[in-house]
This record gives sequence, structure tokens and C-alpha cells, in this order.
Amino acid sequence: MQSLLTFTSTSTIPPGHTHTMAGTASPPSYTTDTEQSARNQTRAIDVEKGTVAEEHLRNTTVQSISWRNVTVTVKDRETKLPKAIVDNVEGIVEAGEICALMGPSGCGKTTLLNVLASRPTGAAKVDATVLVNGAKPSKAAFRSMSCFVEQEDALIGALTVRETLTFASRLASTSRLPKRERAARIDALLDAFGLGEQADTIVGTPLRKGISGGQKRRVGVASQLITSPRIIFLDEPTSGLDSAASFEVISYLRGVAKRNNLIVIASIHQPSTSTFNLFDKLLLLSSGKPHFFGPVSAVSPHYASLGREPPLHVNPAEFLLELVNVDFARGHRDSGARSRLDEMQRAWAASSRAKELSAAVVRVERLGGGAGGEVVVEAAEKRPSLPSLVLTLLHRSFIKSYRDVVVYGIRFAMYFGLAVMMGTVWLRLSTDQSSIIPLTNAIFYGSAFMSFMAVAYVPAFLEDRQQYVKEHHNGLYSATHLIISNFLIGVPPLFLISLLFSLLSYWLSNFRPTASAFFVWVLWLFLDLLAAESLVVLLTSLFPSFVISLALVAFANGLWMSVDGFMVPPGTLNVFYKYVFHYWDYQKYVFENMMINEFAYRTYECARGVVDGECFCMFPSALAGECRIAGQGVLDQYNYGPGHMGKDVGIMMGIIAGYRIAAWGVLMLRK
Ligand SMILES: Nc1ncnc2c1ncn2[C@@H]1O[C@H](COP(=O)(O)OP(=O)(O)OP(=O)(O)O)[C@@H](O)[C@H]1O
Ligand SMILES: [Mg+2]
Repeated sequence: MQSLLTFTSTSTIPPGHTHTMAGTASPPSYTTDTEQSARNQTRAIDVEKGTVAEEHLRNTTVQSISWRNVTVTVKDRETKLPKAIVDNVEGIVEAGEICALMGPSGCGKTTLLNVLASRPTGAAKVDATVLVNGAKPSKAAFRSMSCFVEQEDALIGALTVRETLTFASRLASTSRLPKRERAARIDALLDAFGLGEQADTIVGTPLRKGISGGQKRRVGVASQLITSPRIIFLDEPTSGLDSAASFEVISYLRGVAKRNNLIVIASIHQPSTSTFNLFDKLLLLSSGKPHFFGPVSAVSPHYASLGREPPLHVNPAEFLLELVNVDFARGHRDSGARSRLDEMQRAWAASSRAKELSAAVVRVERLGGGAGGEVVVEAAEKRPSLPSLVLTLLHRSFIKSYRDVVVYGIRFAMYFGLAVMMGTVWLRLSTDQSSIIPLTNAIFYGSAFMSFMAVAYVPAFLEDRQQYVKEHHNGLYSATHLIISNFLIGVPPLFLISLLFSLLSYWLSNFRPTASAFFVWVLWLFLDLLAAESLVVLLTSLFPSFVISLALVAFANGLWMSVDGFMVPPGTLNVFYKYVFHYWDYQKYVFENMMINEFAYRTYECARGVVDGECFCMFPSALAGECRIAGQGVLDQYNYGPGHMGKDVGIMMGIIAGYRIAAWGVLMLRK
């Protein structure tokens, strides 16, 4: 009941209105009474509608999350000795409460949140007892009841706000959820986060402006809430926002949490007074150690009892941060700061409030059964099937690929330019022997450069990967779904690129002019691009950093070019490169088969001396007597011959599948 009351008052605060409040928010009087009552009436109706649509958000099972003995140890970068970055922290947050995690930069907020959310921290050693309802939940149960909103939450810029929520919902719950029910849930969340008016605006890409930073954060939170979590962890949901936008984010979040009895734990940096007062509880950390845990209203009395009463007109959050910030003190060459900090920490540990907290944590654990206890989880909504998840991901990638020019648009333009450039540089080559070297060069350059340009796919896949990591952590889908859908969505555009590129450059350059030769060429170019893109997927999965993956893709392409048989003919290539790299270099198969396609079935005229008409043939062949070169003579230089295209296509498919499976393995292992 209390939560409902609190909500009613919160919901009437216009976001952005940063007046100062104490404790729970109370309505401001900035409008006339009639205006206010009319507004309240429409809100009441909205709220009622929203309450039904918010049914799936309502928490009836999770009463509390508690933790004790949370200690995270790392190896100190300077001294190489173990160092606790989170040191013996405990706390308890109950249903319907929103708790702030505050402290100076580097004090361990993100680390603690990760431990509480049962996510990897990268630390050497993690000791922690984290309990739900006083019992230890299974990993799967915990994952289904919680979600984590990252500091820089990955959103897909090309989607609209509504689409973002729709896809999140489709990934989270079965396609058998009635359409109207899904739409109602989405509308309710859009309303709850004040996003109704932006519903059809895109989130925003580097080239197309979308919604504001604060709205983006709200979309990030709303899209996680559509998966019906009971416990929500947020890492600095307001970083980079001004105080009005920060207030909006937290107050909307508070509204939803209060209405639905959810648990919210959010780290926050320097909130304004009004934002600070939106929280129920505060956990104050400094250098990994707890300095205070309890109701926000109790923090001033606690520090007053230590003789450090917050001045009347000072933002309490700012005051606290300054008080516990040892770096700040160091900047002021204050050597006593450290010992004063330790003293305050000891005073907290010895305080009655700290003791009460320990007792409360123990009590909850005793009631819940601790490690031996069982957490009752409500029957989760039915999850979508594999085909349905893949279809949803395909649909989402499809929207992204036609709206976001970075995905394919730029590459289309680039390949078009390349086709025109190549077709006009290697323009209308004749069947004179002087064309043989240019033709060979064009085959090598075309296939190698096309493959090289797959680096342009790195940013797009990086975005998909980040999205995957986030959604995977929240239990939405696995690497299998990502790899399958990513492969399928790439096939049509890559085929189109191969076809368009060839339509221009193949005929402009005058490669062997038959329809079958043309389509064989298109096939090899297509396989080339598929393999190149699969390589990008593998390397970017391994090293999800723009610069590293760009450098590695470029390096790998350089290597494949060097050993594909053009630069050094296979017969001359040294054994190391031949046996270690040459045979699984996809560019070898592309180059070889394009060469066979051009030369195996064509003849070229040799040159004749001007004076005596003597015949000079660049390549020996069976037709030397007719002063012509059989194309096979060119292929003999490379030990190439026709008759194994089927096998080579099979090998190419194997290489492509190999890259994809390896990428899948990497993503699975990196969990
Ligand atoms: N795996 C690790 N190995 C070594 N040190 C680490 C590791 N992870 C974090 N740290 C250090 O631990 C401290 C706490 O990091 P954390 O990211 O939790 O701080 P934070 O409070 O979230 O900071 P911010 O407010 O800047 O986000 C930092 O000093 C950080 O450098
Ligand atoms: Mg952090």
C-alpha cells in the first residue's frame, strides 16, 4: 500500500522539474488548481490503463536481495600484491526500494554491482554471499529475475524507440504472446518513461540525429524492463546527463519500481539534491569500503553524530562525496585525509546502524535458509523458439541494414566506385597476348581488393556484438542465434554486390564473354565476399575493439594475398607458407578458379616481328605453331587446370563454415 501511495505522488511530478524535495516526492504547485485536477484526472485514467498493461512487471515473489562479506581482490598493478577493491561490504534492499550506490570515481561501484548481479568482474578473487529472499538462487533463476543496464548501454541507432522495445519484447517472450498484449505492454512502458512522443523517432546514428541523451537512457532502461525483471541493476544511468535529464531518468524509474514493487540498485555519480532524494537507500563506498548503508534520510544524522553535519544549503550528495574522496584530499596535499577517512570508516563499522544491518542480513538468511534454501521463482514467460529468435534477429538486422548506411550503403557505394574504376582502367582488353598479364592482374586485384574491403563491415558487426553481449547477459539469446542470423542477413546483399560489381567490371574489361563464364565469375566473387565477411566476424568476435580488429583483418588479408598463388606461384612458394597457409587461404581458390574461368577456354594471338613477321609467344602452348597461345599455357605457369570446381566450391564453403563455427566457439567461450 505504501508503494502505491508513494507512486501516486511521484507520478504527478513533471520530469525535468528539479525542485528540491525531502524524502518522498510531493507534488509541486506550479499550475492552477483546475489545471492540476484535470491533469490528475487524465493521469488517473492513464495509470489505470497502465496498471493493467504493467501486470507483467509486478513483483510478487522477490522480497529482498541481501549480500554480505562481499570482497573482491585484484593484483595491485604497482606493488603486485593482492589488493581489495571491494572490501567486506554488506547490505539489503527490499521489494519496492531503490538504492543508490555512491562513492568517488574508482571506489568500486561497478565492481560491486557486477558481483551483486552475478556477472564477471575480471578480478583475481571474488568472495560474496548474495541471496534473494535469504536463499541462494540458481544462476538461471537469478538471470531470469534480474537485469543489468550498463553505463554505455548499447542501443541500435537505426531503430525507432518503439521498435527497440518491440524487438526486446519479441526476443524475451514467445511469439504466442497476443499482439495486443505486447503492444499494450510497450505502450505502457513508453508512457511510464515519458517516451510517448518519441515513440516513432529513431534512436540516432552518427549520421542521423535521433532522441536526446536522457531519452536514450530511458529507452535503455525501458527495453530491459520489457523482459519483466524483478531486480534491476544500473551502472551510472545518469552519467553524462545534466541534472534535469538525470532527475527525469531516476524519477521515471522510481515510478515504475514503486508501482510494481521492484528492487532497483543503481550506482550514481554526483546526483543533484532532488535526484538524491528520489532514492530510498544509500550505500556509500570509499576505496572499496562501506561508509554508510541505510535510508537516505538517516545519512545526515549519521555524519552529524561524527561531528560532520552537512551544511544546510549544500547538496548532500556533493558533501558526502567530498567527505569520502581521498583523491580530492591528496590533490590538496592533505596528509591527514587518509587517517580521517579510516576513522570515519571505523566509526561506521562500530555504529549501531551497521550492527542492525548485519543483524537484518543474518535474520533474512536464517529465514530463507541461506545456501541450502530455495528461491521460489515464478513460472517464467515462455521463451521464443530458435527459429522465432533467428527470425526476430533477422528482421531487426534487416531494418538496420536498410536504414543505417554504415551497414551496407557505404560498402555498396564503395564497390560501385571500385567496379567503375577497375572497368575503366582495364578497359576493353583484347585477346592479344599483351592482355594476358593485365587480365591476370585484374583477376588478382579484383578478388583481393574486394576481400580487403570487408574491413568496412567491422563497425557494423561490432555494434551487433555489443548488442549480443548485453542481450545474452540478460538471457535473451545465445551465440548460435547471433551467428545464424548474422550469416543469413549477409547473404542477399553480398550476392547483390557481387552481381552488380561484375555486371560493370566484367564486361567493361572484356573477360571471356559468355554467359556461363560470367556467372561462374559472379559465384566466385560471392564466395570470396562471404569468406571475407566471415573472417571479419571471427576476428571481431575474438577482439571486440575497432582498432585491433581493423588491424587484424587488414593483416590477415595481406597474408592471404601474399600466399594465394599470384605473387609467388604455388610451385615456387616455400613449404612453410604452402602447407601452413596456402591450402586454407580462401583467396587461393578464388584466384585459381577465376584464372581457370578466363584462360582454360580461350586463345590469344602472339606478337609478330615487324620486319620478318616472325612469331613471338609469351607463353609456350600447344598452339605455338599457329602463332597463338592456348590459355592453358598461361595456367601451366601456376600448375592450374580445369575440372575441380565442384570440389573447390566445397572447400570454400568449408572455410566459410569454419570461420563461422570458430566465431561461434569464441562467443560461447567468452561467456
Ligand atoms: N580486474 C581488475 N584488476 C585490477 N584492478 C581493477 C580491476 N577491475 C577494477 N580495478 C580497479 O578497481 C577500482 C574500482 O573499479 P570500479 O570500476 O569498480 O570503480 P567505479 O567506482 O565504478 O569507478 P567509476 O565511478 O569511475 O566508474 C579501480 O581503481 C579500478 O582501477
Ligand atoms: Mg563504474
